[in-house]
Amino acid sequence: MSNTASLRPRSVASEHTPLKARNVAFDWADTPLHWIPGDPSSTHTINVLHLLLPAGERWFVHVYKQVLPYIRDPELRADVIGFIGQEAMHSQAHDDVLPHLKEQGLDPTPYTAQVDWLFEKLLGDRTLPPGRARVWWLKERVAMIAAIEHYTAFLGDWVLNARALDDRGADPTMLDLLRWHGAEEVEHRSVAFDLFLHLDGDYRRRVRTWATAFTALVFLWQRGTRFFMANDPTLSNGKAALKDFVRGGRQGMLPTTGAIARSIPQYLSRAYHPSQHGSTEQALAYLDRSPAATRGASTGSTGAAAAAQSDAAPGGA
Ligand SMILES: [Fe+2]
Ligand SMILES: [Fe+2]
Repeated sequence: MSNTASLRPRSVASEHTPLKARNVAFDWADTPLHWIPGDPSSTHTINVLHLLLPAGERWFVHVYKQVLPYIRDPELRADVIGFIGQEAMHSQAHDDVLPHLKEQGLDPTPYTAQVDWLFEKLLGDRTLPPGRARVWWLKERVAMIAAIEHYTAFLGDWVLNARALDDRGADPTMLDLLRWHGAEEVEHRSVAFDLFLHLDGDYRRRVRTWATAFTALVFLWQRGTRFFMANDPTLSNGKAALKDFVRGGRQGMLPTTGAIARSIPQYLSRAYHPSQHGSTEQALAYLDRSPAATRGASTGSTGAAAAAQSDAAPGGA
């Protein structure tokens, strides 16, 4: 692969930090179905993360393991390995919420089966001959991941600052999952973009893959929210509506439509670099006090972080 990056966005060096996967332990026993009290619409809008992320982040890991041999910068290579370890943990942690939803009468399987197909088949390796076609498809997926990571960092920054969720009495375990994950998204927010720049950096590819990723995210998100609302056993005629999404944003339960709209030109600016947005200091401060990360660090019960890190070892594709 050749580095054809003609754009040199300003990266904020002080926002860089060495990455490691953290063990976490969550106990879902006391988490209610509507973990934002009295707001099933916002609850299920955020719950869509549990449908998309297990397969989506497994896909990140799958693609990045194939990219490792092409990385010539040792620091970036270390960042990518740390990123792989963190995303493997995120995928597992969201996957672990699904049995809890099922116990509460909300079986996610019909939806997750479709999401699995999307990431494993449609965005999978495809039967391509070695050489240019295979490298082209790898570059496309690396660029798509950079675009998606713009939104995971956006959401991470949002949830770290979403005080309205605390004021509303949102379930502390779910908030901790979202903030632990969100904080690591903020912590590693530059990795996917730096990797894209390192391998390719073509601006037309950035725009094209952003359009694909953004359209897919909007489609999957509204469909996932509709799925949860329609299948929620406590709602007699559950429907997802745009007005509820806008209202959730106004009340601070969800990102506002204005903030989502502003995120678009931000990513498409030629001067954009993820380190310009969000705070690594704030993310690390949360990770230091996250109950699940603290419990995971002290018990080391799952050993999943270490396993994820070792799975991400060079040549692991
Ligand atoms: Fe993640
Ligand atoms: Fe991420």
